[in-house]
Amino acid sequence: MALLHTRRLLAAPRFFTAAANRASSWWSHVEMGPPDPILGVTEAYKRDSNPKKMNLGVGAYRDDSGKPYVLSCVRKAEAMIASKKMDKEYLPIGGLADFTRASAELALGENSEAFKSGRYVTVQGISGTGSLRIGANFLHRFSRAGRDVYLPKPSWGNHTPIFRDAGLQLQSYRYYDPATCSLDFSGAMDDIARIPEKSIILLHACAHNPTGVDPRQEQWKELAATVKKRKLLVYFDMAYQGFASGDINRDAWAVRYFIEQGINVLLSQSYAKNMGLYGERAGAFTVICSDAEEAKRVESQLKILIRPMYSNPPLNGARIAAAILNTPELRQEWLVEVKGMADRIISMRTQLVSNLKKEGSSHNWQHITDQIGMFCFTGLKPDQVDRLTKEFSIYMTKDGRISVAGVTSGNVGYLAHAIHQVTK
Ligand SMILES: Cc1ncc(COP(=O)(O)O)c(C=O)c1O
Repeated sequence: MALLHTRRLLAAPRFFTAAANRASSWWSHVEMGPPDPILGVTEAYKRDSNPKKMNLGVGAYRDDSGKPYVLSCVRKAEAMIASKKMDKEYLPIGGLADFTRASAELALGENSEAFKSGRYVTVQGISGTGSLRIGANFLHRFSRAGRDVYLPKPSWGNHTPIFRDAGLQLQSYRYYDPATCSLDFSGAMDDIARIPEKSIILLHACAHNPTGVDPRQEQWKELAATVKKRKLLVYFDMAYQGFASGDINRDAWAVRYFIEQGINVLLSQSYAKNMGLYGERAGAFTVICSDAEEAKRVESQLKILIRPMYSNPPLNGARIAAAILNTPELRQEWLVEVKGMADRIISMRTQLVSNLKKEGSSHNWQHITDQIGMFCFTGLKPDQVDRLTKEFSIYMTKDGRISVAGVTSGNVGYLAHAIHQVTK
């Protein structure tokens, strides 16, 4: 009988067995998801055979010959670590102490009262994304500020899924004015003043992604006053400290100012961009508390959150970052190198604008040099982006964002020419 049944199945048409398999599968209801929009840009770029092609989608630094760049201080830190022949034992749940302490000091500043008094806790996270996710999970479990997280509009594309997957609800406040390609400060202030008291607000500490638009210091002061008045819980995402202006202290100014104003913020940090440690996944999550005793309690709960997620964080990137931050000569070299990266990007912005002028463009491109950090919101419309890709093999996201890190002195002229052709 069993044999007969098997024979019948073997004889069955292929589509029938495929359909039967599908219906009986555990995963037949799983639908095909859309590809990641940024990785999709890179895939399309790779398939293009035009030698002049440019990938302005990806958010990773390139040197002036368009190559990925490993900082010399990183190579030296790696050699130092290798020479010590250290073991590969697990890190504690909260990460490498030399790394977390140095990260807090880097963000808060060595003279910070919160840092010196120990009223903070910093745990190592899996780069910026993982650190944000620890924060989101912590908020979900302990927030007295409800479940609503207010993001700037627009914000980094991963913020929404990070907070949503942690069980929080996403709201937004106005941030960017497409008409001027700059900060919609009055819109932001109006919206923030209306956020229900005791909600959570996310702020980009510097080099806002995707717009490249940051508030000025006087504007940050007004923002801090409103946030304080509304009793909002502030979560700073600082993925670009030093990479924006070239100065680690200037880029951390807003975070430090808010803390000085008595606003006990949450903070995520990443070493992907400023140390070029992308794949090493080195980052940190900090909670500023009202005193050291509260910090201890918060730390105990962060460990309880982290343990079932990934037990303990990766060792190598944290060792490299700690070696750089804690060894005076390496730290000094890093400060020069991070400034070098920031300066190259700033100079590409200037060169792009001067080349557009040379092309004869009569548009006002000042926003390109006003904006800061890796990204520039060009103001190009989706049909213009399409033409840049189809006619010039220049790849970027549909919202007109370009990664200035992908521009070099060798291709800036070609980019300006192409932009002028689609905007004239
Ligand atoms: C605003 C912002 N936050 C966080 C990150 C996190 O990056 P990573 O997880 O690579 O550190 C990025 C990276 O692009 C970012 O732009």
